[in-house]
Amino acid sequence: MPVKSSTEPKKSLSQVIAEHNSDPGALLDILRDAQEIHGYLSTAVMEEVADQLDIPVSRVYGVATFYTLLATEPKGKYIIRVCESPPCHIRGAVNILETLKEVLGVNPGETTEDKKFTLELTSCLGVCGVAPAMMIGDQVYGNLTPERVKEILKTYE
Ligand code: FES
Repeated sequence: MPVKSSTEPKKSLSQVIAEHNSDPGALLDILRDAQEIHGYLSTAVMEEVADQLDIPVSRVYGVATFYTLLATEPKGKYIIRVCESPPCHIRGAVNILETLKEVLGVNPGETTEDKKFTLELTSCLGVCGVAPAMMIGDQVYGNLTPERVKEILKTYE
């Protein structure tokens, strides 16, 4: 499979929908692509998808709000994903999450007021050997302690 170039121009929503043959059965895939284009699924984007697929907006909204990978609010510059799978849980992921909640002042699924960080929970990041772990953007951090989390966050200031 060819690797997408980062300089490749983004598709339009109409192109994405056409690629899926305007099939309402492909709604989830279309919304995933729409999010990639627009960053999140605004009301305007959901209305356009509904319009082009000729389905009720409520159906689009229902799918957009059901799946945690889809966002109906703008996300922060950096997405922090804290692993909550058993190996990380056993090794203190709860303390890591509590530290992030305390320092950032947000709960999972929320974005900081300055729009810098969005806090999310995730399943295994594939680095269980260094549990507990989290990702900030594309960067993985392991062997976390509350103190280390605070130090890492400072590097994003
Ligand atoms: S369980 Fe957390 S990285 Fe695998």
